[in-house]
Amino acid sequence: MCGIFAYCSFLQEKDRKTICEILCNGLARQEYRGYDSAGIGIDGDKPGEMFFFKEVGKVAGLRKKIAESNVDTSKTFLSQVSIAHTRWATHGPPSIVNCHPLKSDPKAEFTVVHNGIVTNAAALRLVLQKRGYKFESETDTEAVAILSKYIYDSQPDKRPSFTELVKTVLKELEGSFAFVFKSSHYPNEAVTARRGSPLLIGVKTEKKLKVDFVDVEFAGPDSDAKSGSTLAPPAASAGGLLVPPAGPSMLRTQSRAFMSEDGLPQPIEFFVASDASAIIEHTKRVLYLEDDDIAHIAEGELHIHRLRRNEETGGAPQAQHRTIETLEIELAEIMKGKFDHFMQKEIYEQPESVVNTMRGRVNFDQHVITLGGLRAYLNIIRRGRRIVFCACGTSYHSAIATRAIFEELTEIPVSVELASDFLDRKTPIFRDDVCVFVSQSGETADTILALRYCLERGALCVGVVNTVGSTISRETHCGVHINAGPEIGVASTKAYTSQYIALLMVALQLSEDRISLTERRNQIIEGLHALPGQIKRVLEGDKGLQELATGVLANQRSLLIMGRGYQYATCLEGALKIKEISYMHSEGILAGELKHGPLALIDENMPVIIVMTQDSLYPKVQSAYSQITARKAQPIVVCNEDDDGIPKGCKTIRVPRTVDCLQGIINIIPLQLLSYHLAVKNGFDVDFPRNLAKSVTTE
Ligand code: F6R
Repeated sequence: MCGIFAYCSFLQEKDRKTICEILCNGLARQEYRGYDSAGIGIDGDKPGEMFFFKEVGKVAGLRKKIAESNVDTSKTFLSQVSIAHTRWATHGPPSIVNCHPLKSDPKAEFTVVHNGIVTNAAALRLVLQKRGYKFESETDTEAVAILSKYIYDSQPDKRPSFTELVKTVLKELEGSFAFVFKSSHYPNEAVTARRGSPLLIGVKTEKKLKVDFVDVEFAGPDSDAKSGSTLAPPAASAGGLLVPPAGPSMLRTQSRAFMSEDGLPQPIEFFVASDASAIIEHTKRVLYLEDDDIAHIAEGELHIHRLRRNEETGGAPQAQHRTIETLEIELAEIMKGKFDHFMQKEIYEQPESVVNTMRGRVNFDQHVITLGGLRAYLNIIRRGRRIVFCACGTSYHSAIATRAIFEELTEIPVSVELASDFLDRKTPIFRDDVCVFVSQSGETADTILALRYCLERGALCVGVVNTVGSTISRETHCGVHINAGPEIGVASTKAYTSQYIALLMVALQLSEDRISLTERRNQIIEGLHALPGQIKRVLEGDKGLQELATGVLANQRSLLIMGRGYQYATCLEGALKIKEISYMHSEGILAGELKHGPLALIDENMPVIIVMTQDSLYPKVQSAYSQITARKAQPIVVCNEDDDGIPKGCKTIRVPRTVDCLQGIINIIPLQLLSYHLAVKNGFDVDFPRNLAKSVTTE
């Protein structure tokens, strides 16, 4: 949650108006990560001075506030560092005082923007308050800004470098974070660091970069890295603060990445963000930071340091370089175009996004699936004792949707776990387990923690992820990118259908050696081929769905969606879409469970959708239909186009017929559209539903 952004420009004149625009655009692109408040911190008129603009709510409000202020927007800066933040509230309600950037003191000696949660912030706050430091906000982040000042204040004789100071701060912190620090004591410098929250740096310069990596400076042998806490006794005991140890804490090595050929400084800009979408309009050259990386930006250079020595990091040794990668997304992909909302655009993109998921992987002539990212691991997976899917929300539903076909094709037992519950139960995991982590963002905290839990236990970990370069895609042993393109709308739509197809392709590839399944596999692959055209046909029925939303379903307080077999996942996912953006209570019900409780809810006033497309369970769903109509329900039936067995007078949503295990991909689309129209009709902010954020990077 939360989006952070920083803009650092060197040796090129930028006026304040441009700087503010760059910051606000960077925030607007990341608004899906949280939109409780937005704020920026920029250089003031005098050296060391900072101006802050903060507003509760979305970036549009912040822009207005800046436009209405009387600061001199024409003032120019040859070099400058500015920071920005869009918030999803965790500590303290959305308010101006809790809005980032948070500062250490009224003069803003240290300012911080933060994504994540510092779990020992309360203990730090107590210790610092005892030392006379004053807090204004309820945030965990303010403790970090004030701790920075404390560490600076306590070394009057030998001031640490900005990097050393931040390193000392980070060693005191527990929890997850991505930060950018700015300080009046270190003008035109920024320090940014991550542990558990995503962070990347874009680099823009007119000259060609001499090298495409940045050296990493590991803590040296004489470092304080082993000496433990600066706050002793442990912060939780609110004991005395020690003066941080003096002396060198870094091995000084030279990173030459941004020197020009002649070795002279050159104009250069750096963009720090939580997400590539905030950077893409400036540059495609980016560098992803790893956990415990500390990046120092100053004098047009970028240096990366490690919080720990290489041998202390545990697991595999850290790479000596961070590669500068080229982003493959285009700006147009993250713009709304002719659509009113990102969610609507993403629903309508599905005929293409499903093709992108299959592109280069499905040979429709020879009925062969090739997933390059799994090739070396196929036999290990086939020999696995069981497959455990782990995910949250919509991604979890895609795993539910494909569990049956996985079991059928692989004959390996499959369990599907909600990542949070999986961790709560400390589920037993063994070396011969194959654990599959499904995530659109690749940054969901619960799923990442579950992944690390399984890595520690020696299981093979497979990622099914949309966001290239995300934590899950980097930390899993192997995997498949779903290639759905950037998903901006908070309610996940195209990622669901692409996850569904990606998981299906994994099952198909795993079963390629089973002759007895050839016919079944061919049938599914042919079904995949027809899917894009069928999705288009469903989209053509949008008007009818809009009429349902503004007619029979308008002003209802609740909506039950029931089905079974492959369609249980459709019901869960449809209900999630409806509740999250239209705020209407909605529940996905397994039709087989109806008589074990939910039937009590049914009467003539309870709106119901029943998913009754024709597969082997059709007679059982018909029986559920009879049970609810006998209790005077008037369900809307999702059924196949050619099904003439549906009673006359019954409201229907007709969809093309496909193979049983693919039907859920078709059936979810009318429910996505329905949820969209219900939200629009009620005037709700479709792309930014209340209390939610796209990327849930906190537990
Ligand atoms: C619902 C939705 C969420 C996410 C969940 C997991 O529309 O978007 O339920 O599916 O937060 O997110 P990822 O897939 O990024 O791990």
